[in-house]
Amino acid sequence: MGKETGNLPSLPRFAFIGAGRMASAMVGGLLARKAAAPAEIACVGGDDDTARGLARRTGITAHSDLVSLLATADTVVLACKPQQLAGLDPRLADLTAGRLVISILAGKRLARLAQTFPRTRNLVRAMPNTPGQIGAGITGWCALHPLGAADRRLVDTVLGALGQAIELEEKQLDAVTAVSGSGPAFLFEFVAALREGGVAAGLPRDVAAQLAQATVLGSARLLAETRAEPEALRDQVTSPHGTTFAGLQRMAARGFRDTIKETILAAKARSEELSKED
Ligand SMILES: NC(=O)c1ccc[n+]([C@@H]2O[C@H](COP(=O)([O-])OP(=O)(O)OC[C@H]3O[C@@H](n4cnc5c(N)ncnc54)[C@H](OP(=O)(O)O)[C@@H]3O)[C@@H](O)[C@H]2O)c1
Repeated sequence: MGKETGNLPSLPRFAFIGAGRMASAMVGGLLARKAAAPAEIACVGGDDDTARGLARRTGITAHSDLVSLLATADTVVLACKPQQLAGLDPRLADLTAGRLVISILAGKRLARLAQTFPRTRNLVRAMPNTPGQIGAGITGWCALHPLGAADRRLVDTVLGALGQAIELEEKQLDAVTAVSGSGPAFLFEFVAALREGGVAAGLPRDVAAQLAQATVLGSARLLAETRAEPEALRDQVTSPHGTTFAGLQRMAARGFRDTIKETILAAKARSEELSKED
């Protein structure tokens, strides 16, 4: 005989406000890792029917109103667009009382989130990145109050659905936004530049694209698997006055590292500006 509780239907523990790309990735990761069953996850979207689409694809429940969404949920994931925060239903202040709220809204600080969610048991601000869509992301996060062990496990579970997660101080999150949040775009631009360089060197575009993509992917895996410093792996490819040396000389002469540093600082400065908006 199974336990009596085994016959009770699961109730949603995780509620997603927003059902777009990032919410879909988190739900997909939670289900794939068996961290939650579909019956334990519910979502609400905006006007475009994303919630029902996500529910259809995954078996979770879509709601059209916040009261039913939050009735049994213990952990709330805020995954709408940052500009939608100000227009959210003011009843959320009471409906999220005593819950753990995890926001992935870019640039929305804990102090701002606490205005919309003033009665939560704790608030987490997280900055994920797009590789999270395939479970290969990295998320920097911080909490309003020190987390208890159970809530820490919940944060690890929810953010772990996207890949790695690291706890940081809130003052570091603008830099995180620049390095790992915007970082994928800088990497993709580098891959495109590598491809264009191959075309300039005489290769067909499709061949150059294949070489560039495989080189970046293979190099990233080598970096991860050897845990070596990138400079050490760079030096393994570089013989004195060889081809790589010639290329690196040109990169240095054109200020490659300074350009990337300025790129990161520009992204960080913009993140700081955006955080000041409502
Ligand atoms: N994409 C990234 O790589 C990335 C990285 C870091 C952080 N983030 C953050 O992740 C968040 C989500 O990004 P995304 O790319 O997943 O956006 P998205 O695909 O546009 O999804 C936004 C979702 O919010 C829903 N929504 C709109 N108004 C709403 C409301 N009033 N109440 C509840 N839900 C509402 C939308 O529903 P309908 O479409 O059905 O109207 C949609 O499901 C953003 O805050 C972004 O800053 C994203």
